[in-house]
Amino acid sequence: MNEEILNKLKGIIYPGFKKSIVDFGFVKATQPKVVVQIPSAKPEIKNELEKAISALGLECEILTPAPQQASSPQNKNIAPQIKNFIMISSGKGGVGKSTTTLNLALSMAKMGKKVGILDADIYGPNIPRMLGCENERAYAVGDKLKPITSHGLEMMSMGVLIEPGQSLIWRGAMIMKAITQLLNEVAWGSLDALFLDMPPGTGDAQLTLAQSVPVSLGVCVTTPQSVALDDCSRALDMFNKLGIKLGGVVENMSGFICPDCGKKYDIFGGGEAAEKLAQKYSTNIIAKVPIEPSIRQGGDLGKPVAFYAPNSNAAKAYDKAAAVLWDELEKLKSAGGASNSSIQPH
Ligand SMILES: Nc1ncnc2c1ncn2[C@@H]1O[C@H](COP(=O)(O)OP(=O)(O)OP(=O)(O)O)[C@@H](O)[C@H]1O
Ligand SMILES: [Mg+2]
Repeated sequence: MNEEILNKLKGIIYPGFKKSIVDFGFVKATQPKVVVQIPSAKPEIKNELEKAISALGLECEILTPAPQQASSPQNKNIAPQIKNFIMISSGKGGVGKSTTTLNLALSMAKMGKKVGILDADIYGPNIPRMLGCENERAYAVGDKLKPITSHGLEMMSMGVLIEPGQSLIWRGAMIMKAITQLLNEVAWGSLDALFLDMPPGTGDAQLTLAQSVPVSLGVCVTTPQSVALDDCSRALDMFNKLGIKLGGVVENMSGFICPDCGKKYDIFGGGEAAEKLAQKYSTNIIAKVPIEPSIRQGGDLGKPVAFYAPNSNAAKAYDKAAAVLWDELEKLKSAGGASNSSIQPH
């Protein structure tokens, strides 16, 4: 491929992400014309890229997956024994994705479903501590890793593969490989749902997962303040661009109820902003979870509220949201499966 043209194309960021079409490996040819193969069937993405490439004075052809692929039940699924994948994301860090993932997974397990969690936060795996199994180490049985089982869930995380406190300094390509391995080199059972706890942002991990498995539903976690809502909007947009159906928004840290006087304080702001955002993306707020010291303690001590305090308001909110998500999964099943159909790898 022509280096000069490739260098020019490096300035074109794939819509909704931070990397260029070159860095994602979407550019297939540069001459006689630029050929770009993208993993989305959305016409607006195709148009945006066509415009950007033409603005460089280059002729181009954008290849998209065939539209019927997008709803085909014969999805590429590198972990086919798992029926549904639920991706929990947020544009912003620290808003409570891992807490939400874990408690929603536990609530769904309480409904009698077989549930697992894949901690896709490769650099900052928190699920093992939140589940109280940070000292366990995963081991292989045959040629696959056995998932950790805890509180009735199956779980796999870099946190049970590397020594505690160690850090990983990896490039994007290694993150993509690690996530693929966490899916197909782990002996996951036949699960009704695997919850995917994502790192903050909209990046490699999200795209890799959407390329590897049919993600049934995307859930966005946000706190009520404006900066978090801006980032939430980016996460919702990412789900849309990846063709992932929205399961809903969880508004976390939604006010603080003073344990002494019972008065509600909207520490991160309140109002209708999250509702409006959900409406804009034709989805719903599926839970509003207040700031509760027991939730933070539950996370630090490995005693999640959905399991240890099932009658608390927080646990009830998670139970309700898990039931809504399960209903959505059932509806999807009757409609023929996940809409992203796992977008085709480049
Ligand atoms: N509703 C809540 N009430 C009290 N503490 C909470 C609540 N939700 C989350 N926390 C606490 O906030 C901290 C951050 O939460 P969590 O790790 O779930 O966020 P995250 O979005 O996964 O972060 P990261 O982006 O780093 O992955 C944790 O200590 C957690 O226990
Ligand atoms: Mg997290």
